[in-house]
Amino acid sequence: MLRVEDLVVEFPAGKGRRVHAVSGVSFDVARGETLGIVGESGCGKSTTARALMQLPAPLSGSIRLDGVEMTSLRGEKLRETRRRLQMIFQDPISSLNPRRKVRDIVAEGPRVWGEGADRVDEMLEAVGLDPVTAAGRRPHEFSGGQCQRICIARALVLRPEVVICDEPVSALDVSVQAQILGLLEDLKERYRLTLVFIAHDLAVVKNISDRVLVMYLGKICELAPGETLVNRPAHPYTRALLASIPGGRLALPPADQLIKGEPPSPVWPPSGCRFRTRCPKARARCAEEEPVVRPVADGQWVACHFPEIDGV
Ligand SMILES: Nc1ncnc2c1ncn2[C@@H]1O[C@H](COP(=O)(O)OP(=O)(O)O)[C@@H](O)[C@H]1O
Ligand SMILES: [Mg+2]
Repeated sequence: MLRVEDLVVEFPAGKGRRVHAVSGVSFDVARGETLGIVGESGCGKSTTARALMQLPAPLSGSIRLDGVEMTSLRGEKLRETRRRLQMIFQDPISSLNPRRKVRDIVAEGPRVWGEGADRVDEMLEAVGLDPVTAAGRRPHEFSGGQCQRICIARALVLRPEVVICDEPVSALDVSVQAQILGLLEDLKERYRLTLVFIAHDLAVVKNISDRVLVMYLGKICELAPGETLVNRPAHPYTRALLASIPGGRLALPPADQLIKGEPPSPVWPPSGCRFRTRCPKARARCAEEEPVVRPVADGQWVACHFPEIDGV
């Protein structure tokens, strides 16, 4: 349904320098699939998500929705196509206008499109809010989890086909996280949605996703079905992410296998493999030659010269 090829997004960083936020990322998303995107803060997840919406349009690369090249659309055509994708963000409270009532917040999208508010009640009900008592209140009267439900209603009222969830539960209490994740799964079934689900925490992503894309410093490390990624992670970075999940199935590797320190600046990404400066397996070749994303097993793609492919 969605095909992303060689996506590049850069930002000016002063003095002619550039932030290499996303550097040649390719993936596709099947209709009805949930694709997880995971990686440390700053690795380019949100930039990738916004590029899908053309907000802003990428520097280069192709994004096709049902075969339609979104990067070359303009004006009304872009607006119509973009509507088919909706986003949900990390901080639900700040993404809601505090002065408006819930009913008006959810009805705003349809109003802009010249449509009536007749789906508002259905949407509030679908996200688990009582239309009678909730619609007339303002955001500050709700908890963080309830505000995220309002944001979800606001996104779904436009009948999107793809919902891009950018860390939708990262700001919520753990008990509320599970409720929102469960709600998203229910809504996905009910409205036949395709989900792109972003999180910095692999523990959150692995259960909800069919396939998971692991990113590091603007590049893809690994792409695999959730099960495969958890049971047979091939990229040293994926293995480190998994090892850091408390109670995870992967036995904790020796201390020197856990990634240390901060990722390098995306203004000066390392030569060759971008992960090599923190990688326990790095050798000379990793600095000289960039690893391409290649298949190592059924549905499993890895960008590493020395992947772990004999199991855990
Ligand atoms: N508007 C912007 N201007 C300059 N740099 C940006 C901008 N948006 C993101 N970045 C930089 O791009 C990189 C990727 O950011 P982002 O996509 O937000 O990462 P993530 O969502 O994975 O935390 C970071 O280094 C971030 O500082
Ligand atoms: Mg982000």
